[in-house]
Amino acid sequence: MQPIPPSVTEAIARAEAVAFAYSSEPEAGRLLAALSAAVPAGGRILELGTGTGVGTAWIRHGLGERTDVEVVTVEFDPATAAVAAEAGWPAWVTLHIGDAEELLPGLGTFDLIFADAPAGKWTGLDLTIAALAPRGVLLVDDMDLGRYTEPEQVASVETVRRTLLTDSRLVAAELPTGSGFIIACRSER
Ligand SMILES: C[S@@+](CC[C@H](N)C(=O)[O-])C[C@H]1O[C@@H](n2cnc3c(N)ncnc32)[C@H](O)[C@@H]1O
Repeated sequence: MQPIPPSVTEAIARAEAVAFAYSSEPEAGRLLAALSAAVPAGGRILELGTGTGVGTAWIRHGLGERTDVEVVTVEFDPATAAVAAEAGWPAWVTLHIGDAEELLPGLGTFDLIFADAPAGKWTGLDLTIAALAPRGVLLVDDMDLGRYTEPEQVASVETVRRTLLTDSRLVAAELPTGSGFIIACRSER
């Protein structure tokens, strides 16, 4: 297993300092970094739900020294976004403060989307799928049904799973590890 990079360790420390409990686990982060590394030159990455910046730090780690990819990340809560901004992102990272569902139609299309906010995942998933470029990849976690007991939560997870696994525009795979991932690639059909 590759070690957690120092930039991510620093982001985790910033999250812990403000007791932010919803950061991506290393399993999700490593996946996100690997998928980010595969984004083509001139590509675009979108993260819905910046949190305090742990996922964004993994994306940056995946991109390494590259400056040919644009990263857009959206956070609803200004105080949480302010913690993320402490990382001092390069110019090719844009942090939008606002509601992901409201912003999504105006953000353009992306080669990789990490849907990690309630908006654009549990609601408005159609907007997220619409924002996938051809061959674009969508990553979602929290897809392991076994982790949920509340009927409302089970219904939400089932809806997202069904959409991603049956939408004819998507080629999807489940990774039954961690909180449960689905990776869905927008085909050109
Ligand atoms: C699971 S956390 C994100 C963690 C982050 N992606 C990471 O990898 O560490 C979800 C975030 O979504 C934010 N959020 C909640 N509602 C939102 C909305 N409507 N639009 C954008 N962000 C939202 C929350 O404030 C929270 O910071």
